[in-house]
Amino acid sequence: MKDEFLDDLIALITRTEVAHMGKYLYVGTGAKLWKILAEHEPAYPLSRAGAELVRKALPELARRLPRGLTMVDLAPGGTKSVIASAEIGRAIGIRRYHAIEGSPEFCKSIPALISSLLPEIEIGVIVDDMFEPIQEVKTERALAYLGGITISNLIHPMDPVFPAALLADTLGKLLRYSGGGWLLLTIDTMNDRAELDARYKNKTTEAFATDLMKRAAVAYPALGLVGDGFKYDPEYIETSQQYAQILEATVDQACSLWRIARGDRFHIANSYKIAPGWFERAVREIGASVVYMSLDRATGLALYLVSGPNARDDR
Ligand SMILES: C[S@@+](CC[C@H](N)C(=O)[O-])C[C@H]1O[C@@H](n2cnc3c(N)ncnc32)[C@H](O)[C@@H]1O
Repeated sequence: MKDEFLDDLIALITRTEVAHMGKYLYVGTGAKLWKILAEHEPAYPLSRAGAELVRKALPELARRLPRGLTMVDLAPGGTKSVIASAEIGRAIGIRRYHAIEGSPEFCKSIPALISSLLPEIEIGVIVDDMFEPIQEVKTERALAYLGGITISNLIHPMDPVFPAALLADTLGKLLRYSGGGWLLLTIDTMNDRAELDARYKNKTTEAFATDLMKRAAVAYPALGLVGDGFKYDPEYIETSQQYAQILEATVDQACSLWRIARGDRFHIANSYKIAPGWFERAVREIGASVVYMSLDRATGLALYLVSGPNARDDR
């Protein structure tokens, strides 16, 4: 049977592919560590700010979106962010709720939580990669929601140029989940270096990022990885606003296939900080339009509602 985690890990270690490990960070102990980061870490306010932006936008969303839509909740994450999704669902009167989430741990609690908050609706939850392949979860136009700045995990090597075409392509994929209807998502526009370093260079983020190799070492002993033989040392490229999540080997590590030397750096994922102009250009490129935007100045977090070619209000 194909083991995707193993294949992706080997691709990372052999540098065949980089920045593609983001979806594995939230699995197993990673799910628990993410909850601590998202819900409690004072230096990382984004998830809490996202839920707050959504709450403030509810009247606006209820005004702009037709009732009875399906909501496709993309990568909803842990309990608190699923509650924010349910609040959107209630405010706009959804008929169906579908979630696609890569972490089995997060998926487990979603059906009971959503049915307790929205008792009358149909619920479907899939554990899968939302990008590969695009899942067929809807047949009619819907609201697709991607919270938690997950859009910023664009898979791209380190580059001084922002990958504008990749952003447009990714937005296009997300819009397909809405049947060309509406897409609601958050982006992180913060580009202050000191603030970004405070967000990412702290003990909780370090524990979250290094957990990937700890799990990999336990899952695949034959790889010869030293689970606690990596430190987290992210790098920021100012021109492309690419915050690259990097693990650096702190000890030499050997296995039959390759050697990892102390100081080797592995680019596991990205968190792009996306300027509003870059985002809005990508929206135009996919034939969509921004219909609502709200910015939290303190964190740089922006919530956007985008409408696709099939968005219309039939009321
Ligand atoms: C930054 S967290 C955001 C969680 C939540 N939406 C929030 O607002 O706090 C990223 C989420 O995306 C999920 N994820 C990342 N890549 C994914 C992929 N390719 N397919 C499905 N889920 C993915 C993770 O499991 C995690 O729940």
